[in-house]
Order: sequence, then C-alpha cells, then structure tokens
Amino acid sequence: MYIDALINLSYLVGAVAFVWGLRLLSSPDSARRGNILAAIGMGIAIVATFIKPIAGGDNNYIWIIGGMILGAIVGWLAAKRIKMTAMPEMVSVFNGLGGACAVFLAIAELYKYYDGQMVLDASGRGIALFTLLIGGVAFTGSMLAFGKLAGKIKDKHVILPKHSIINIILLITVLVLAVLLVIQGKSSGFGTILIFLLISLVYGFSFVAPIGGADMPVVISLLNSFTGLSAAAAGLIYNNQIMLIGGILVGAAGTILTILMCQAMNRSLGNVIIGGFGSAGGSSSVDTGDQVVRQATPNDAAIQLFYANSVMFVPGYGLAVAQAQKVVKELDDMLEANGVDVKYAIHPVAGRMPGHMNVLLAEADVPYPKLLDLEDANSALPDTDAVVIVGANDVVNPAALDDPGSPIYGMPVLEVWKAKNTIVLKRSMSPGYAGIQNPLFFKENNRMLFGDAKDSLQKIVGEVKSM
Ligand code: TAP
Repeated sequence: MYIDALINLSYLVGAVAFVWGLRLLSSPDSARRGNILAAIGMGIAIVATFIKPIAGGDNNYIWIIGGMILGAIVGWLAAKRIKMTAMPEMVSVFNGLGGACAVFLAIAELYKYYDGQMVLDASGRGIALFTLLIGGVAFTGSMLAFGKLAGKIKDKHVILPKHSIINIILLITVLVLAVLLVIQGKSSGFGTILIFLLISLVYGFSFVAPIGGADMPVVISLLNSFTGLSAAAAGLIYNNQIMLIGGILVGAAGTILTILMCQAMNRSLGNVIIGGFGSAGGSSSVDTGDQVVRQATPNDAAIQLFYANSVMFVPGYGLAVAQAQKVVKELDDMLEANGVDVKYAIHPVAGRMPGHMNVLLAEADVPYPKLLDLEDANSALPDTDAVVIVGANDVVNPAALDDPGSPIYGMPVLEVWKAKNTIVLKRSMSPGYAGIQNPLFFKENNRMLFGDAKDSLQKIVGEVKSM
C-alpha cells in the first residue's frame, strides 16, 4: 500500500521533471539544466520501477541491471566519440533501438497471450499490435535513415519504380492484418504475428526509402515521434504511467519538431514523405556558365571587416565540418575590440539538425544575445556593412525568393545580399545540401574566399592581427 503510494509519487515527480526539463530545453542557456533535470526524472522513475512489487515474487534484476550497464557503456562511448556533424546519425540509431525495444516488449506480451500464460482482450491486442507496427517502422526506418546519412546507402539503391504505390499497398496490408488479428484472437496463431511484424519492418524500410538526403533530419524527427508513440503504447500494455507519459512527450515533441522543420523549409510533410526533394550530397560540380565569380584574399576580407561598423556572421553546415566556431569567436573578439558591432544570423535549418549552429557557437562561448533569429537578422541585414557566410549555402540562396522553379522556392532565407557586402567562405562552387546553384555567389557585392572555413578564418585573423 505504502509502496504503491511511494511509486506513484515518484512517477509524478519523474513526469514533472520530464515536462520541466523539456521546457528548459527551449532556450540554449537553460538547455543543459533541462537535460540534467529530465535525466534525474528518468533516474527516479527507474528506481521506483525497481521497487515495484512483482506478481509471483520473481524478478529479473540481474538481467535488467546487466542490460542497463551494457547500454550505459555503449551510450557513453558513442556520445564521447561521435563527431558533432554525425549527431543526426547517432540520434537515428538510438531512436531505431528505442523502436526495437518496443517491438520486443509487444512480442513478449503477445507470445504470453498466444501461449495461454495471460489474458489479453481485443483492446489489449490492438495496443500490442500498434506497438509492434509503430516500433517496427521506427526501427527499420531509422536504420535506413542512418545508412543514408552516413553515406553507406545511396537513394538509387533503395527506391523502386512506383514506390509510393508499393508503400500504400504495404500499409493497407498491415492494417487489414491488424484488424483480422484483433478480431480472430488466438485462433490466428502466433506465426501470423511474426508475419505482421515482418511486414511492419519492410514497411518501415520502404517508407523511408524514397525520402531524399536533404529531408533526412525531418524524417528522423518523425520516426522519433513514432518511437515515442510505440513507447507510450507499451506503457499502456504494462499499465505503467511514467512510460505512457514519457512516450507521449517524445511523440509530441517529435511531431512538433517535424512540423517546425517543414515550416522552416516551406514544405508540407506529405511532400517530404513522397520524396519531392533531390538528395544531393553536396559534392557535385556545378555549371557556372559565363557568370563572373569575384574572389577575395584573406587580406581583402580582413580590411573590409576591420574597418566596418557592423559585421554579421552567417554560420552553416560548413562551419560544423570545418569546426571553425572557435576561430569565428576569436575574430569576433578582435573586431569588437576595434569597435565593430558583431552579430550572428541563425537560420532555423542551418546545418543538419535543429539547433546545430546554436550548439556550436555555445561551445565557442559566443554570448546568446549576439545570435539573431531569421526575422531579426533580415531586419538588420540592410544596415550591415559586411556579412561573412561561413560554410552556409542553401540558407542564403536568393533563388528561394525569386526563382519559382527552384526546389527551395518559398523557403524563408537570410537575405544577406541586402547587406552592403558579403564574403562567402567555402571550398569550391559546389552546391549545398539541396544540390542547387546559388546566384548569391555571382552578385556584384559578393566575394568568394575559397578554402576550408577554419583555415580561411585563421588567415583573416592573422591579417587582422598585423593591422
Ligand atoms: P548547405 O546548404 O548544406 O551548404 C553547406 C556548404 O558548406 C556547402 O556548400 C559546402 O561547400 C560548404 N562546406 C562544407 N565543408 C566546408 C568546409 N570545411 N569549409 C568551408 N565550407 C565548407 O548548408 P546550410 O546553408 O547550413 O543549409 C542546410 C541545409 O540542410 C538546407 O538545405 C536545409 O534545408 C537542410 N536541412 C537542415 C535541417 C536542419 S534541422 N538543420 C533539417 C532538414 C534539412 P564546399 O563543398 O564548396 O565547401
């Protein structure tokens, strides 16, 4: 009795910690605390689950603790070793494993039901099948997303002709089978459950197959919400409130993030799922026609920045690749010391994951008030003397506003060309993730400084030092 009250109270505290932790995650300066708070909430929930009396008195503590230790070691090593640019890949794998966990839980419960060890009414069977379907889709979908992001699987290897029709057939099959299994109960046999699982796994793979490389972060977020829903459904199976709440929070957060990313790219979710976006890898060469590209030397750039009143840095994916955030901050400090007003323009989908640029700049101790969001940056740009675009491309592409034929047409972008001068730091004329040319590079007030962003910035810093 007291134990039950204590467990429920602990679950309540855990749930509050999850919600409050999520709230703190919404701002970069409190995000770290939010993460720690949510982890403490999870710790409390785990301890409470351990003290829950077990029917029959039997326990699996050795297995559970063994699994937790193994998982903690793998998770710790992966988090330590992973490069910031490979974070979406890691999120994808971990998310997929969450889906796989839900699948194992549902399979175990369904096995017990078919074996006569427990009773499961129609709604219980429906919930277990839902867990199996969503968890299975999240698992294979996330693994394929990982393979694509890591460059191990090419889109052309997994897209079939009439792929969307295949997906619709698979989805209808799995849904009809689910209804039959719920109605027929045990008479269908456990083998049918395995067939159901197999089709769910195939559907997860096939669902992600046509989605282009540039849309992978969106689909990962969507799969993340699927994993949350499957965990919530597993919480229903076990009548475990904290699992239910945690799953719903993950499901809701993943859904909101998916919607926000789609909005920031001005795309509908349907368009993302059908795979309307090309999947460029960012390394193909581009026909620049007979347009003139004007180049700058590090010395030209240093003079322009040193004598400017206001400078805005626009970080993009290339900043992450070059790990140039600390040199940007060094240059920022030197310019500020010379009386230059320095700001940063952060596009919501710059980089490869939500908040990518914020995390990198925070790592270099750039103060948050210096970071401007899309709207504020666009208001400030016409009065800015010089804009330094550090490895960004799609997020500063004017075609998004003035070329209705462009795949990114309609996506809100940073209107850097309205500033007095722009300097683009990148290695070549290669396109960004959307795989399209950027007319900004040919504008009269733009200069290209080719080379690795960190290297170029170090050279500019060297020039500024000698002034
Ligand atoms: P991108 O358009 O991908 O451009 C990055 C540029 O960085 C490339 O053109 C590349 O040119 C350059 N680069 C790479 N390595 C570099 C290095 N070491 N030094 C200097 N430059 C380097 O980046 P973006 O402007 O940040 O746009 C993000 C893209 O991802 C958008 O298309 C967005 O829709 C998509 N996306 C993002 C998200 C999130 S949540 N962030 C979600 C979904 C989709 P070179 O090869 O010539 O150097």
